[in-house]
Amino acid sequence: MKVAVPKETRLGELRVALVPQGVETLAKAGLEIVVETGAGAASGVSDAEYKEAGAEVVGSAAEALTGAGIVLRINPPSLSDPDEVSAIGAGTILVSFLNPLANQTLVRRLAEEQISSISMELVPRITRAQSMDALSSQATIAGYKAVLLAADHLPKFLPMFTTAAGTIRPAKALILGAGVAGLQAIATARRLGAVVEAFDVRPAVKEQVESLGATFLEAEADVTAEGEGGYAKELSEDQHQKELELISSSIVDTDIVITTAQIPGRDAPLLITEDMVKSMRPGSVIVDLASESGGNCAVTVTGDTVLFQGVQVLGPVNLPASVPVHASQMYSKNIVTLVAEFVGESGEVQLDFENDVIGPATVTHEGQVKNEYVRHALEDNAS
Ligand code: NAI
Repeated sequence: MKVAVPKETRLGELRVALVPQGVETLAKAGLEIVVETGAGAASGVSDAEYKEAGAEVVGSAAEALTGAGIVLRINPPSLSDPDEVSAIGAGTILVSFLNPLANQTLVRRLAEEQISSISMELVPRITRAQSMDALSSQATIAGYKAVLLAADHLPKFLPMFTTAAGTIRPAKALILGAGVAGLQAIATARRLGAVVEAFDVRPAVKEQVESLGATFLEAEADVTAEGEGGYAKELSEDQHQKELELISSSIVDTDIVITTAQIPGRDAPLLITEDMVKSMRPGSVIVDLASESGGNCAVTVTGDTVLFQGVQVLGPVNLPASVPVHASQMYSKNIVTLVAEFVGESGEVQLDFENDVIGPATVTHEGQVKNEYVRHALEDNAS
């Protein structure tokens, strides 16, 4: 069976879905890997390295995709200029981030074209599937890079310094949302010497925050909202007000704020109002990692940096692509482990919907929308 790895076409994308180590693993499983020329160049992987690992390198995406039974990507195929779905044959298994709850037109097209699609976002967050969890691997990178961006913009040091020229106090960082990205942001800010406070609506993370050497902000009232599968759910209006008060009291003397709060299937919660930004010292930095899903800060502009009353507010998009070497390595490991769920020892392919990863992660198959959440979202939109 032929596995195609086209070059990613999203603007600014530097990652590749499969690195040579992944080629070797899939080739051992009896698969034939075809990579588009230059697909790994921005992640530091040459065509020669792909060939050495056992892949065939071809001159165009169309060539790679012709006759492929499996297609591995990072970003969803584009529907226009060029239409990347039409290049994928009927019956092919596409494995990629698809953002299927939001990309409903794409889901309909994948079903119409009889493409079997597996969404990396829908891999369940169960212990067995940790090595396939690309949301976590890429969020780790985003959390790390967000702190470096903030440190780069901050007109101050992060660590304490005791020098002949005086003692410098450490910067204070506030991390809102202590999931995968938030915990990595805490760890990175601590390594750089900042004093760190953090808050999350899932009380279970308090211990993890403290084990990283940060202080967990304690609300006097109950500000907790634990949902299904270890995720957060939306706070009540009253609890949300209490959370805003808690953040207001901490943010005034904070140099760096990294926000990562997300609620699956909904807009990101607003955690920093304009007034809060105004209360911060000029020169302070906010990095809003939720900017692509509506933003946690009222003044965030997605994909841009704004200066608001002296405070720099960054709304970066696709931060994992800014660390392409390791982001690609991690993603490749995730996708190879996932492919092993539906490829047998002699290279035969079978999607088993009873499998606890393939079942929930399959979006479309044989013209049907298989995942019930995606199907309900489509039905809700149609009615
Ligand atoms: P996410 O990206 O959906 O959200 C980020 C964080 O924002 C979460 O910690 C959430 O609680 C928090 N949040 C939401 N609303 C908030 C608000 N109003 N104020 C403050 N914080 C708010 O979540 P992520 O990082 O993808 O994963 C969250 C959790 O999922 C993990 O911490 C873990 O419990 C679970 N998980 C389990 C895995 C496994 O067992 N294999 C792997 C990865 C995650």
